[in-house]
Amino acid sequence: MPRYRSIFKDETKLDISYVPSRLPHRDRELRLLMEFFSFLLQFPAKMTQRVIITGDIGTGKTALSQRFGVDIIREADKNGTNLRYVHVNCREYRGSLFMILHHIISLFYPNFPKRGYAAEELLRNFLNILDEENIYLILALDEFDSLVEREGSEGVYKLTRLQEMRQNKPQRFSIICILRDLKAIGALDASTRSTLQSNVISLEKYSKEQLRDILSDRASLAFKTLTVSEETLNLIAELASSEGGNARFGIELLWRAGKYADAENFDMVALECVRKAVSSIIPTVRKSDLASLSFHEKLFLLSISRRFKESENDHISLSEAEKAYNIVCEEFNIEPNSHTQLWKYLHSLSSIGIIETKVASVGSRGRTTIIYLSRIPARELEKELSALLEKEA
Ligand SMILES: Nc1ncnc2c1ncn2[C@@H]1O[C@H](COP(=O)(O)OP(=O)(O)OP(=O)(O)O)[C@@H](O)[C@H]1O
Ligand SMILES: [Mg+2]
Repeated sequence: MPRYRSIFKDETKLDISYVPSRLPHRDRELRLLMEFFSFLLQFPAKMTQRVIITGDIGTGKTALSQRFGVDIIREADKNGTNLRYVHVNCREYRGSLFMILHHIISLFYPNFPKRGYAAEELLRNFLNILDEENIYLILALDEFDSLVEREGSEGVYKLTRLQEMRQNKPQRFSIICILRDLKAIGALDASTRSTLQSNVISLEKYSKEQLRDILSDRASLAFKTLTVSEETLNLIAELASSEGGNARFGIELLWRAGKYADAENFDMVALECVRKAVSSIIPTVRKSDLASLSFHEKLFLLSISRRFKESENDHISLSEAEKAYNIVCEEFNIEPNSHTQLWKYLHSLSSIGIIETKVASVGSRGRTTIIYLSRIPARELEKELSALLEKEA
């Protein structure tokens, strides 16, 4: 039996739960968080802090908070402060303050009983435990909107204010609220809102270039050297950028593409593997879309798919496509259509979303049309079209 070969060096580096040691393009936000919480390293009992991290899907909110957690604990350890960071996904506890508090307490006391307490008592218990053990805590409440939805102003108010009402006792915990859309907080009453909203860190969507840096960093941790080309990274970055700058989508594509490459026993993540990965996540073209193309559109698309199948280049020029089309026409023994006609086909193919086109300048004045195929494996496209054309010919 042949030995199993993999282009992965360590695929856990692409896992959802992996917290990367470096977060490219989030340095500024990480520093800001450190500044907001720097008092914890000097006089932790004197105050508490509340910070909101917000941003669209896959902009790194969870990763940023977790990275910060690890970093600040390391700093606190150095100067002997008993600081902990606890990250809770509120949605996992259906937004229930009781369940969330119970979970946190059980991290310190694993057998803490579930019955016989109201949320407020639980909160007092929780503060007592922190007092007894002399613990300071940063509580990251991820998907905070689900807590707001379930508990409303009262629950959030309790959480933020109760410890401040304890007299002559140290402040014990600070909060980081993480949510996609600040609108969710709008449902709270004005005073609760104002206790939360003083420090907001908004994460912008990643640009294609930023996604490329993130993916490249992650690829070098997860894959063996020289198995992921620049072209492959660019294609994935482009796709993740068109999915709203979502880094998670990009990392998942990278992982799946690597899996397809392993399954084919390739020694690189070919562009074709990326196309396969994306079409497995979001099916882009229905077979009926292909069937409804005209005969020559099918021939033209067949020639485009053949070019891409043979190439590790992420694009081809219109003139290359035209040459390939002429060869296909010869094969089918049919007169090729004119250049102008092909140009029209290109438009209709890109408007259904099968291919993408871009006009690029060549030299000082010339312009040329470039064709991309990013969402459908060329091999599948070719197979599908060949079958359709066979029926029609
Ligand atoms: N700047 C970055 N550098 C490296 N990896 C990143 C960066 N930003 C995000 N990631 C990675 O991208 C993925 C998605 O990030 P994360 O889960 O933090 O997004 P999110 O904003 O919390 O999304 P959601 O709103 O869906 O919860 C994770 O695997 C994370 O490690
Ligand atoms: Mg998240």
